Amino acid sequence: MMDTILGTINGVDFTIGETILELSYLLSAIFFVVGLKLLSHPESARKGNFYAAGGMLLAMITTILLHKNESGQAIGLANIGIITATIAAGGLVGSVIARKVKMTAMPQLVSFFNATGGAASALVALLEYPNADPSNTGSMLVTILGLIIGSIAFSGSMIAYGKLDGKVGDLTAGYMKYINLLFLILVTVTGTWLVVSNTPVEEMQWAIYSLFALTLVYGILFVMPIGGADMPVVISLLNSFTGIAAAMAGFIYNNQAMILGGILVGAAGSILTILMVRAMNRSLVNVLVGAFGGGGASADQVQGIIKEISVSDASILLSYSQSVVIVPGYGLAVAQAQHVCHELDNLLEGKGVQVRYAIHPVAGRMPGHMNVLLAEADVPYDKLVEMEDINPDMPNTDVVIVIGANDVVNPAADDDPSSPIYGMPIIRTHEAKNIIVMKRGMGKGYAGIENFLFFNDKTRMLFGNAKDSIQKLVTEIKTL
Ligand code: TAP
Repeated sequence: MMDTILGTINGVDFTIGETILELSYLLSAIFFVVGLKLLSHPESARKGNFYAAGGMLLAMITTILLHKNESGQAIGLANIGIITATIAAGGLVGSVIARKVKMTAMPQLVSFFNATGGAASALVALLEYPNADPSNTGSMLVTILGLIIGSIAFSGSMIAYGKLDGKVGDLTAGYMKYINLLFLILVTVTGTWLVVSNTPVEEMQWAIYSLFALTLVYGILFVMPIGGADMPVVISLLNSFTGIAAAMAGFIYNNQAMILGGILVGAAGSILTILMVRAMNRSLVNVLVGAFGGGGASADQVQGIIKEISVSDASILLSYSQSVVIVPGYGLAVAQAQHVCHELDNLLEGKGVQVRYAIHPVAGRMPGHMNVLLAEADVPYDKLVEMEDINPDMPNTDVVIVIGANDVVNPAADDDPSSPIYGMPIIRTHEAKNIIVMKRGMGKGYAGIENFLFFNDKTRMLFGNAKDSIQKLVTEIKTL
């Protein structure tokens, strides 16, 4: 029944099975696109994940059941058994890791998943190379590109994972630029030669394995010098590499679902990379070859003194304000203070205070970090205001509470041309009438620089772990 010919396109017969398979890929692609669209808002993101995963599941099932190789053979039962067992094992490991991971370790998880995606695509290219036709430049090109991009995504993401987990340090020596350039040239020359040489694949086995080794090393060297606040940008870039490599693997197998899924991941990763470097006011080249962090004014160059505020004074100030803006940062995530923070905001609203959250696009350690964190605590989305929208309101804000944020509220971005974050857009907390900063001590942020805001005349520091400090405020405000 599935082998009945339905029609002929350009001289190629299409059976019912092949037609259903192609239609299922089209449906999967629609699921991916709708999923991506839904992922763009926190409220619909969970649904978006289900749609995208559903599209992938559909493509996998129809491929297993309906795919036939060039000689018209379906996937045998033994192979179906192996494929199903592998998918089940991978799915189990993936879901256990994803369930167990802490919110603060999410970037590491993303890196690890990028690495596995890159490795899968590189292996497809490596294993399919012996079947490639050297006289077909297009097919050689996608195979070699899949190998290069997939391997870089794999080894680069593993190093990124190690760095984020504190297991791998930065290698910022100036000569790294030249070593990286040398490897890039070697990779490009070997890759180009493999594509254009038109030599039988059996004679080029050593070259393909050399290219594989070179790209693995290049992936490591490429990420080694990058550190500090630049890591999320690199992760997003590697994510787009994984997508592009998967698309190349899709071209090798002439599989529409893989091509489309890969292109969507590649495009989304690239757009995110661009948005992030813009939010940090830097260029991608600067992120990739310029070490970041340190520099700028030192504590003794900053004018002003540090003033503290007691819990009771802070409680009174907040309770008698009309408008309060909370600026969450990485420290809020570290302290896991999102639930108690929402309790504080509810308490203040009960007293007639307008409370909003100011969200900086790169607050925290991953895109959307603050949105995800606050969503976990059921903070309504309409209370979350983007940086561009809240900034004009800052001068009318009675109290701004900075909770575990540092770089994203550092006025050096505006005033200090020597600062590495100079030009980065910030939440203009220094324009509010009163500023309360909650942090444990005088620790620096990710960029490793001094913050002028803490020395501002309107700023009062509430030192301590963010969760403990907010809990004390909640207890105190309840007594007022
Ligand atoms: P950071 O500048 O990293 O500052 C976090 C602050 O939280 C620290 O100064 C620390 O001071 C404090 N802190 C840590 N644990 C705390 C706890 N348990 N309780 C209270 N305070 C705590 O954070 P940010 O303002 O969110 O900025 C994010 C940085 O990451 C920026 O440099 C940004 O460019 C970079 N970055 C982010 C992204 C994305 S996509 N999110 C992408 C690229 C770069 P103490 O040690 O004194 O407590």
